[in-house]
Formats: sequence, C-alpha cells, structure tokens
Amino acid sequence: MTTPIGITFVENDLDAIAGATGRVAVFVGAEGKLDQLARRVNRLCKGALGRFAASEAFADLKPGEAAALACPAGMEAEAVDVVRLDRKPTREDARKAGATLARRQGKADVLILVGANAGAPDIAFGFAMRAYEFTAHKTEKANPRGAVRVMASTPEQVAAKAGPMAALAEGVFFTRDLVNEPANVLTTDDFAARLAAMQELGLDVEILEEDDLRKLGMGALLGVGQGSESPSKVVVMQWNGGKKNDAPLALVGKGVCFDSGGISLKPALGMEEMTMDMGGAGVVAGVMRTLALRKARANVVGLVGLVENMPSGKAQRPGDVVRSMKGDTIEVINTDAEGRLVLADVLWYAQERFNPAGVIDLATLTGAIIIGLGHEKAGVFSNDDALCNAFLKAAGSECEGAWRMPLGEAYDKALKSQVADMKNTGGRPAGSITAAQFLKRFVKDGCAWIHLDIAGVARVNEETALAPKGATGWGVLSLDRLIADRFEV
Ligand code: BES
Ligand code: MN
Ligand code: ZN
Repeated sequence: MTTPIGITFVENDLDAIAGATGRVAVFVGAEGKLDQLARRVNRLCKGALGRFAASEAFADLKPGEAAALACPAGMEAEAVDVVRLDRKPTREDARKAGATLARRQGKADVLILVGANAGAPDIAFGFAMRAYEFTAHKTEKANPRGAVRVMASTPEQVAAKAGPMAALAEGVFFTRDLVNEPANVLTTDDFAARLAAMQELGLDVEILEEDDLRKLGMGALLGVGQGSESPSKVVVMQWNGGKKNDAPLALVGKGVCFDSGGISLKPALGMEEMTMDMGGAGVVAGVMRTLALRKARANVVGLVGLVENMPSGKAQRPGDVVRSMKGDTIEVINTDAEGRLVLADVLWYAQERFNPAGVIDLATLTGAIIIGLGHEKAGVFSNDDALCNAFLKAAGSECEGAWRMPLGEAYDKALKSQVADMKNTGGRPAGSITAAQFLKRFVKDGCAWIHLDIAGVARVNEETALAPKGATGWGVLSLDRLIADRFEV
C-alpha cells in the first residue's frame, strides 16, 4: 500500500529484514527494551543492537535522534539506524524521528521497522516533510532518493492515518515551492496562474487586475506595485465546504514577489533573500490547497495581494501620500515598509466583501521580529484572546513556534503624520508592534483578527527539525489545525 507521500506500508515480515538493502531503521525506547522487530535485527547482527541500546552513547541520544550501526554482520543493509523513540511518543518526537531518517537517507532504500509503535503515521509524515527538496532549477537531478518502506504491525491502519497527512504535506510543499522560487520565475502573473490552477481542486479562484483594484480604490496596494513591470493583483480563493450561510474565516497574505525596498532601496547584502517576501501569500495558498485536498467542512476564503516592490521612474517616492480603500490617507515615509500598505487594502477588502467570522493575516512584515524572536517563533498579534489562544494551542500541537506580542494605543503616536492621516513607519523602536498597530487601523471594530509576522520563520538559512534549509512552510499545519478545531462543522 503506497500513500501519496510516496511511502509504502508493509506487514511485519521477520524474514524480509536480513535481506533488506540500503538502510534499516529500528526504534528503541528510553528504557532500552527491544520490540519484536528490533529483537530480530539484534539476533541477525549477533547482539550488536542490544549492546548499543545498553550503552551510554544510546542514553545520550535525545528522543527522535539516531545513531548508525554500519555494515552490521548478518544483514545485507549498509547500516542500521537505531532511533531513540518511545512506544507512545509525542507527535513532535515521532515527526523528528522520521525527519532524522530522511536526513540520513542519502540515495539509499530505507526500511523503517515501526512495528506497533503508536507514532507510526507521524514518523512517516516527518520523513516526508524532511525529504522535500527544491530541485526545479538544478540541471542535474542529482541524488534521487531510494524507495521508502514502513514495516508495521497494522499497515492498513497506519496508511489510513498517514493518508490525510498527504493533503497536509502537499499544502506545505506548495508553500515551500512558492517561497523557494526566484522572483524572475514567480512573477505576479506566474503566482496568480499557479493559484488559478487550483480551481481543478474545487476552489473558486478569482483574479482582480489593476483596473479592478483602481475601481475599488486600493491606492495603498497599487502605490507599492507601480514601479514594477509586473502588474499588481489580488487573488481571491474560496473554499466553501461548510454550512451555506456560515461566515467564512478570511486568510490574508502579503505577496511581495520581490522586495527591493523600492526607492528606499535595500543594501545589496542579502537582498536576494527578498524573493521570499511573498511568504504570507504562500502560506495562504498552501492552506487553501490542503483544505481543498482534504475536503474540509469549513468556509474559508484566502486573499493575497501580489505586487513587486521596485525602484524605477514610475516608482512611488518617500513622501508620497496614497489613499487606501478604507479612505484613510497614508504618507509613505519609507517605500521599504510596503507590506503593510499591501495588507491595508487586502484586509479592508476582505472585511467589506465577506464579513468574515475572523481574519488572520500572514506577512514577512518586519526585520524587527527577527531581532525579537529569531528564527524560532513567529510574532502573533491579536485583538481577540479566544481566537488567539486557539491559534497558539494549534501551533503548539503542531510544533510550529509562535509567540504573542503586545498591541496598544501607546504605540500609535509613532504613526502620526503631518500631512496625512498616518505615516507608514514608526521608527526603530518596537518596529514589529508599530507595524501591527498600522494594520489594526484596517481591521473593523468587533472583527476578530490575528496578525502573524513570519519574517523569521518563513525561510531559514539552516535546516529546521522538519525542513531543509530554505522555505519551511511554517503556518500551514497550525492554520489547518485551527480550522479543524474551531471552524469545521
Ligand atoms: N520584507 C521586509 C521585512 C523582512 C526583513 C522580511 C527580513 C524578511 C527578512 C519588509 O518589507 C521591510 O522591508 N521592512 C522594513 C520596515 C522598515 C522600513 C520600517 C524593515 O523591517 O526593515
Ligand atoms: Mn520592505
Ligand atoms: Zn517586504
């Protein structure tokens, strides 16, 4: 039985273990007791596994970590990976264990002996998450991975649980691909086309072009894109799997396909990383894909503002004043604080059109959130404790780092403008909070709202527990769980 995550589940078969080529993985709990499959491996390799399980080296392993017994006597395998994992592991440990094996795989075939371990579906999921690679622009498709088999006492049951996880994996991978794509490939047109293609999955996808946005009065968003050759767009994706008249949850994403800073040009060092500045939109797209694939019984609308922030003779200048769809005017002090200008209009449009039950925006909004929280946790800002706590709980159970940050009127004075209703930057102090306060002005009273500043977590320069270096897909799992917990009928 093969799941869409490319892993085959097979029944326990003691006779197959000796002849398995490539790598064989076994799981041993903290107490060092060997299960039936591990005992078989131990017998084949003349007690080496048992000796290792009793050693200090094994005791030093953290849950989910592994050490290899290379070229074990009595087996065909090139190595046995001994993974420390309890029989009833936490979700986090089980996923980590799977990811550990994916990291060690290289090109080899892998036989994973999960037996009766309760974490089996999460082991498979963790493996799939970490096995992701972005090879779209490699001429030589090097390192094709070998086959992955999971040997389990109840393979049908494990596969049945791992199956729905394929929808999650596909959503995460969709987000990662979008975030990893360079900006000459993922233009606003290309991004919109990839979203339009999701109509095949039953999503309703609409693309609003610049003329439409002008008619709607989205002067803040249009100002950001006006220096680029790529046309600005707003894409609306609807999934109506819930009750007919239930107000939807709205997900709003910052989709700056490249952020050069505009006339307030960024320094050259690291500017290439700003291909990821559409990360918020990427997560919204990934969640919508997962919801459609698993036919979620919820009404969710995803809206993304797609623009490119470039300097040119047509670009917006520092000092320009733009009028948002809401009607408020904004003095653009720094053209590099563009994400909030995009979100201001998309947030307002989402509320005006859908009267949503809640709004969650995601954006790679500020460098300041990286100073505050590093690459471990996203910044969470909210005007609604109940929704916020539900999100934090979902993020906790999906092991995606999230930390609530404060909002408060006292921060508003930083946004006072001489010439307009507000300015778009509040200076260096509390840069992530003043950015959130700016967004809050475009959230209607009584509308439950969460702002997720994902600048530190959307893309990382070192691998994380479940992702290789590059795009992580942070947020897809948490938002899907929040929707399942709170919005599904
Ligand atoms: N896209 C950036 C924020 C960012 C920085 C994302 C690093 C990922 C990694 C955003 O548009 C930006 O430039 N923010 C400015 C705001 C400032 C001008 C008020 C920043 O954080 O420096
Ligand atoms: Mn910027
Ligand atoms: Zn930006």
